[in-house]
Amino acid sequence: MENNTEIKRKKIFSGVQPSGVLTIGNYLGAIKNWVSLQQDYDCIYCVVDMHAITVRQNPADLRRRTLEGLALYIACGIDPDKSIMFVQSHVPAHAELSWVLGCNTMFGELSRMTQFKDKSKKHSDNVNAGLFTYPVLMAADILLYQTDVVPVGIDQKQHIEIARDIAERFNGVYGDTFTVPEAYIPKVGMKITSLTDPSKKMSKSDPNPNSYVNIIESRDDTIRKIKRAVTDSDSEVRFAEGKDGICNLMNIYSSFTGKSYEKIEKEFTGKGYGDFKLAVGETCADCLQPIRDEFSRLTADKSYLESLMKDGAEKAGYIARKTLSKVYRKIGFYQLPR
Ligand code: TRP
Repeated sequence: MENNTEIKRKKIFSGVQPSGVLTIGNYLGAIKNWVSLQQDYDCIYCVVDMHAITVRQNPADLRRRTLEGLALYIACGIDPDKSIMFVQSHVPAHAELSWVLGCNTMFGELSRMTQFKDKSKKHSDNVNAGLFTYPVLMAADILLYQTDVVPVGIDQKQHIEIARDIAERFNGVYGDTFTVPEAYIPKVGMKITSLTDPSKKMSKSDPNPNSYVNIIESRDDTIRKIKRAVTDSDSEVRFAEGKDGICNLMNIYSSFTGKSYEKIEKEFTGKGYGDFKLAVGETCADCLQPIRDEFSRLTADKSYLESLMKDGAEKAGYIARKTLSKVYRKIGFYQLPR
């Protein structure tokens, strides 16, 4: 029997593209949060391979990274018994709902998306329609699961806003259909920046590998990259304007250790950047070690990962189909008698 004193748990949906090996930016800004959210929410985490092909991908790499993406989620602490994990292209409802939502999204609002503007500059030889309608597919991802909360980095805020607009518009025209989702943007760790240019976001697709640390980077490389991180000419470990490089390292250190900025400043008073960077590098390497170990154990067991994928796609597909058939009914698509 249902226990009616139990409060219905809210739903979380989020995803990461399998377009490169995840960095500590992805980990601290997103996945680490996903892990703790599992306690209080029903969570669905997706490897969004369909979004990845808005930029040209090498097929063999895409295939491998998709499997690795799932392995990383688990290695980072997403529990397949608690949360649903799946690959976007395994649930056809994403593409199907995306079409319907696209017919309820305006050309003008998509033109205003900053990520579209950025990416079409960066890939000016391949400004394809998928790049333009990317936010519609993302809205479909979120709305299919009647998601309440979407944990994302600050760079995705605009995409959540358009998903809300699309949901509200659809509900207005066709009656209550979608839960209107909210963005959840964590404070610390929300924007880990590049180690070589702290004015830019740390990105797994940055051509300079010294600008990021992968989650599965070797200990030596982790320490080396952090030691070489660009900082200012001052020598004080302090969270202040004009010290973007140091602030970034403090963010990394704080996210891994839970220490406040003040505490970190105290810890390194009278010490130089060298000591600080070494401490950040070693802490980072220590914290990543168990993830790396688990990742190699998992990727050696492809059949286990495939069985998880299949299971995830079934569970997600069941929920998604329910929403999709509700949408099809509302918009007047002819329903065949069952
Ligand atoms: N656009 C997101 C990113 O690049 C990835 C993504 C796709 C996503 N669909 C999503 C994130 C749905 C949250 C919810 O980071």
